[in-house]
Amino acid sequence: MSNRMRKVVFPVAGLGTRFLPATKAVAKEMLPVLDRPLIQYAVDEAVDAGADTLIFVTNRYKHAIADYFDKAYELESKLAEKGKEEMLAQVQGTLPHHVRAVFVTQPEALGLGHAVLCARPVVGNEPFGVILPDDLIVNDGRSALSQMADAAETWDAGVIAVEEVPNDQTHKYGIVATGEQMDERSARITHMVEKPRPEDAPSNLGVVGRYVLPARIFDLLEKTSPGSGGEIQLTDAIEDLLKQQSVLAYRFQGRRFDCGNKLGLVRATLHLALRDPELAPAVYEIAEGLR
Ligand code: G1P
Repeated sequence: MSNRMRKVVFPVAGLGTRFLPATKAVAKEMLPVLDRPLIQYAVDEAVDAGADTLIFVTNRYKHAIADYFDKAYELESKLAEKGKEEMLAQVQGTLPHHVRAVFVTQPEALGLGHAVLCARPVVGNEPFGVILPDDLIVNDGRSALSQMADAAETWDAGVIAVEEVPNDQTHKYGIVATGEQMDERSARITHMVEKPRPEDAPSNLGVVGRYVLPARIFDLLEKTSPGSGGEIQLTDAIEDLLKQQSVLAYRFQGRRFDCGNKLGLVRATLHLALRDPELAPAVYEIAEGLR
């Protein structure tokens, strides 16, 4: 992989059952953390990493994400008429002009590996990123995916975000074993397994939803049989990829929130509210009042 990642895949076809009944009508990725939906944080991260093509792998019931990034003619002309420039900029700023959004349908929910494979015709033969918008990563400096794209270029390798997870939680993550340490944040992955029981886990380094992968992963995904949970797992294809080229586990700088569950979404919301100078004092006051 000599060239830099320009395309990023967002697998967003999930049903979001942990947030029912809200997700009866609202895509999970449209749930807000403060004033922005989860998908916006993910898109901003990809754009910060230099992406110019965003590929949303969605299902036929989810139009909300496409609508969100589309031009909102009526709203925009109303705001312009009333001179509400700041709001207009917000509405128009969901996707920068130089970035294009492509929507691909995943016809059946066959797993994350299958969702990524659905993006193949758009990605073609170049390295690409994957962001799972459930995992919201907050940081002050460059985005997690941007850090990873640098590492992928430097080491000519695939790169996967990891962080330590509690020993009794390994069954919720892809877990990696690592060998040679390349630099402060990157180590070569020697083995990778999807959602092992704690007694079977090779370590407690859990995969967070950010990947930079070479196009050859697609050939491997074509051959991947259903694994954990009866689904075609990205982890299993990456385990095969390890036989062909190096893939690094990358300890990103930033704080990750698992917004795929209620508590994670509450944590992320509080964290961002407390970083906002206008909201923070009132939020502290509310928290005090709850004690
Ligand atoms: C997916 C991946 C898993 C990874 C996790 C991170 O699982 O399959 O390897 O650790 O995302 O969020 P999911 O949470 O979609 O079941």
